[in-house]
Formats: sequence, structure tokens, C-alpha cells
Amino acid sequence: MTSRPSILVARQVFPEVVDKLRQHFDVDTNEDDAPLDAAQLVARLQGKVGVITTGSERVDAALVTACPQLRIVANIAVGYNNFDLPAITAAGILASNTPDVLTETTADFGFALLLATARRLTESEHFLRAGQWNRWALDMFAGAEVNGSTLGILGMGRIGQAIARRGAHGFNMNVIYHNRSQLDATTEAECKARYVSKEELLKTSDHLILVLPYSASSHHAIGATEIAQMKPTATLVNIARGGIVDDAALAAALREKRIAAAGLDVFEGEPRVHPDLLAVPNIVLTPHIASATIATRKAMAHLAADNVIAYLTEGKTVTPLNP
Ligand code: DGY
Repeated sequence: MTSRPSILVARQVFPEVVDKLRQHFDVDTNEDDAPLDAAQLVARLQGKVGVITTGSERVDAALVTACPQLRIVANIAVGYNNFDLPAITAAGILASNTPDVLTETTADFGFALLLATARRLTESEHFLRAGQWNRWALDMFAGAEVNGSTLGILGMGRIGQAIARRGAHGFNMNVIYHNRSQLDATTEAECKARYVSKEELLKTSDHLILVLPYSASSHHAIGATEIAQMKPTATLVNIARGGIVDDAALAAALREKRIAAAGLDVFEGEPRVHPDLLAVPNIVLTPHIASATIATRKAMAHLAADNVIAYLTEGKTVTPLNP
């Protein structure tokens, strides 16, 4: 009897996804779900031809060198800054991610975070829970207007466009964006979005939302210099990746009320959160859950599994990063 190929599912996924994979492969799972460090991942990958990862597992040159049998790394995420893609490609390994299935869900969350930040939901709930609410007042937790305001989007990929549509069509917002390249006229018209320079985006947005991929060139794309260009009444929302914002600079700006508020779903060095961010009140903090609905997380896990199955059984690709 010929032995079946072996793969690793590096974090816990839905049982139905593991069952689907087991129809084709011997599947090693990470039962306690703790993220595997580099040495653990290399050890678990010996003799394996595929691995399903999340953003918590780093796949770099050292790993692919130490795992010569590996043929596919399938990330359960649209972002893949945990992959050293040139090293993976040079090793002849296919990499895949999970685009599209999370676009609308993530845009919903981006908008939820924008609304919560502008309308001070976290601050006001803390106040209520602390028993401090003893009378109604005209200016109590008065926040920033969302309807009809100017929405700035930095990074205008699929999720940025979905956020633009929500802002323009649902909230009558004036949508401006900055991106590596300007969208075609049809897409701009659908999104009712206008391309501007990064400087204009910073200066004129009432609400600025970050939806760009993380890379060396987007590291600290929003730091003290950029924040200094924003309106003192502006809010900043980050649902992209932590390293895009200089967390210490943001905390100082919030503390000194140089911008009004921030909503963050992602953090540099997460799950650690910069202590200065925890100390400011004018912030809404969530633990990297923008794509976290049950249906979407299942769709992401299934798509990663489909990539592994298609490639290892038929040599086909579904959503490859390096076809
Ligand atoms: C993504 O898909 O990139 C989300 O941030 C989950 O990691």
C-alpha cells in the first residue's frame, strides 16, 4: 500500500475542514492551538508536503530550507506578510492566501470600528459600567459626525473599495483615497471615490481608515509626521496590519488630543498591545477580528484547504500568490 501524503494544519480549524483534508492526506493537527514557533514548525513539518498556516506562523527562507519536501503553504488570511514570498518561490513552493471570501465581512467590521470610534462607544460604555452615569447632558460623549463627512481610505484594494461603497452609498460620505495606483474610472465611479495625494488624504479626511498591505515600504506609514498633518477632530482606524502605524506616536497624539480618536484592530507585535495605547480613553481596541464571522472564517479555512487539495492532488491552483 502506498502511503498518503502528509500535511500539517498549524492551528485549529473547523473539524469539517480537517475531515475534508483527511479524504486525501494524513493530517497532523495542532490540538492545543498555541502558535508554533520557528523550531516547532520545522520539527512538525518534517516529511510533510503541505501546511495550512495563519498569520501567526512565519514561513521564511530558513524554514523552507529546513523543510525540503514542502510543496505548498496555504495561509488562512488575505494578508501574507508572515510569508517571505521570494524565498518560498525560490524554493519552488506554491503559496496561497484567501482573498475575496472575507472582503465584505472585513469591510463591515471596518465600518463598525469607524462608527464606534467616531461615536465613542467604548468610552461611553466604560463610563456606564463604572456607575458614573447620573444624568443626561447635552454634550455627553458627543462625537464626530459620520454621515456626510469626508472618508479617507489609504489602500484601495478589494476591502478598501467595499468600505468606499459603504461610505458613499450608505452614509453619503465624500470618499477620497490614496493607493499605489489610481483605480480605473469605472471602479472609481462605482465607489464614488476620488484619488488624492497622501498629503491631501491626511489633511482633509474626517475619518481615515487604513486598508493597505504591510511591507517594508508601508512600515510606519502613519507616524508622528503623518498624524501631525491630520485634523485635530479626525479619527484614525486601522484594520490592516499593526506595523503600518507607529503605536507610540499614535498614543502620544491621542493623549495630547492632536487627533480625536482611534480604532485599532491590529497592533505591532500583537497579541502584545503597546501599554500607552491601553492608557488612553479615546480609543476602541479589538483583537484582530475584522474577518471574524463564523461563515467567513469557515469560508477562509475551506479556501485554504481547497488550495492544498487542488495543488497536491491535481497540480492545480485556486488562489495562488506565486503561480
Ligand atoms: C487577513 O485575512 O489578512 C486577516 O487579517 C486575518 O489574518
